[in-house]
Amino acid sequence: MNEQKAIAIIDSGVGGLTVAREVMRQLPQERILYFGDNARCPYGSRPPGEIRSFSLQMIQFLFQYPVKALVIACNTAAAVVLEEVREFTAVPVLGVIEPGARAAISASRTGRIGIIGTETTIRTAAYERALRRINPNLYVAGLACPQFVPLVENRLIHTPEAERIVAETLAPLKYEELDTLILGCTHYPLLAPLIQKALGDEITLISSAEETARELSTLLSLSDMHAPAQWDQPRHQFFTSGEIEVFRQIGEEWLGCPVNVEHRVLEPSVPIK
Ligand code: DGL
Repeated sequence: MNEQKAIAIIDSGVGGLTVAREVMRQLPQERILYFGDNARCPYGSRPPGEIRSFSLQMIQFLFQYPVKALVIACNTAAAVVLEEVREFTAVPVLGVIEPGARAAISASRTGRIGIIGTETTIRTAAYERALRRINPNLYVAGLACPQFVPLVENRLIHTPEAERIVAETLAPLKYEELDTLILGCTHYPLLAPLIQKALGDEITLISSAEETARELSTLLSLSDMHAPAQWDQPRHQFFTSGEIEVFRQIGEEWLGCPVNVEHRVLEPSVPIK
């Protein structure tokens, strides 16, 4: 029997699991292949050349398997390589930025939208461009939060220290009168309760994960690529360049199911056809 073609998902670490979780919920028949580059996380403060090269290595690794779509579930990587990857591969490629921007516009009533993300995501203004392409009249405020990803990767999200860092970092946004905030980093939904507490219940938090999974579902429908209903329970596979146990613990806590994870060291990339 042919192996079931998978949805490839990449992230600099565990953040993309927020997208994997939504894909599992909305598309339970689909098999997921996930690579988290935990050993080199965070990407957010690295130069674009490095982010590009690391992202291509993950893609190249997952493309050894039968893959029918690729999700760049890392805002930082998507901001740097999405367009390039779309040019060189025949496999459909989704990022998380455009779906997040669309979800924010549909949620906002006042047109005052905030974005939090890594330094690279904010510096490239990728969200701002995606938002303004749809509605040039929006008020957009961006804030880099470089301390957030280490809180998630080091499993510190339930500590008072995390609450303090989140509140202090987000303080400048309190005066912006935003009604919607895009969690422009796939790690941030894991900090959502702390972010909501810091900014108050009136602000709507947007996680790109849900919208990205919805777009993936539409894509699979339009191209008639949904996994047939007769496939057995999909056999998801997770790979990390970092520590297996840490990845497994966060993965199982977040996905609510056993996580089969293997360690892989990535090699310098060669061009992908
Ligand atoms: N989770 C990633 C993102 O969405 C990157 C975090 C990082 O590695 O800095 O931006």
